[in-house]
Amino acid sequence: MNETFQKCQDLLGKFIDYIQDCYRQFQSVHVDHLERKWINISILAIGLLVFVIAIDAFFHGINPPGKVETIDSARLHLSREFAENNLGVQLDDKGSIVIRMVAGRYSFFPKHISVPAETKLTFRWVSMDVLHGVHIPMTNMSTMIVPGYVAEITTNFPKPGEYPVLCNEYCGLGHNHMWSNISVIAKEDWVAPAAPVITDKEPNNG
Ligand code: CUA
Repeated sequence: MNETFQKCQDLLGKFIDYIQDCYRQFQSVHVDHLERKWINISILAIGLLVFVIAIDAFFHGINPPGKVETIDSARLHLSREFAENNLGVQLDDKGSIVIRMVAGRYSFFPKHISVPAETKLTFRWVSMDVLHGVHIPMTNMSTMIVPGYVAEITTNFPKPGEYPVLCNEYCGLGHNHMWSNISVIAKEDWVAPAAPVITDKEPNNG
């Protein structure tokens, strides 16, 4: 642990030296006064954007996906995880809530789910046809659903109510009708759904 910390410190030191060096070189080159001013403004703008991204990452849980997980989009109905009777809200063996959703032209399936408020929820989204997006206002849920990949997002609904689920990637003529709702219920009133009956579906020769 200490070693890692030391390494990070060394790296950070080197990076700061490098930045200072670049700055010194930049200062020694003749640049027109007005041009220098605009360079400084653009560096400031980049710094501000990086700052906003860092704040979002640390305090609002807005991150790029941490891992790449692939899936055969054409055979979702035959897969164990995204078979029709396995979709929707489930408790996993550790008691965490996992929600499996399929996006397809032009809806999200299951059409309607209920989840508890103020609870950590793990959503796993897949597409069965083309590129879709999913956006739930007032949450950190905003991701592309790329065919062939699983998009996993952890979120939390702050208040009970009806939350719209919107597709935000153009996916065809019905794109603007592609939306549904999630009912968010007070934590104490929410009842976990019964576990689904998993049947082993084997793909039969294509
Ligand atoms: Cu699905 Cu736009």
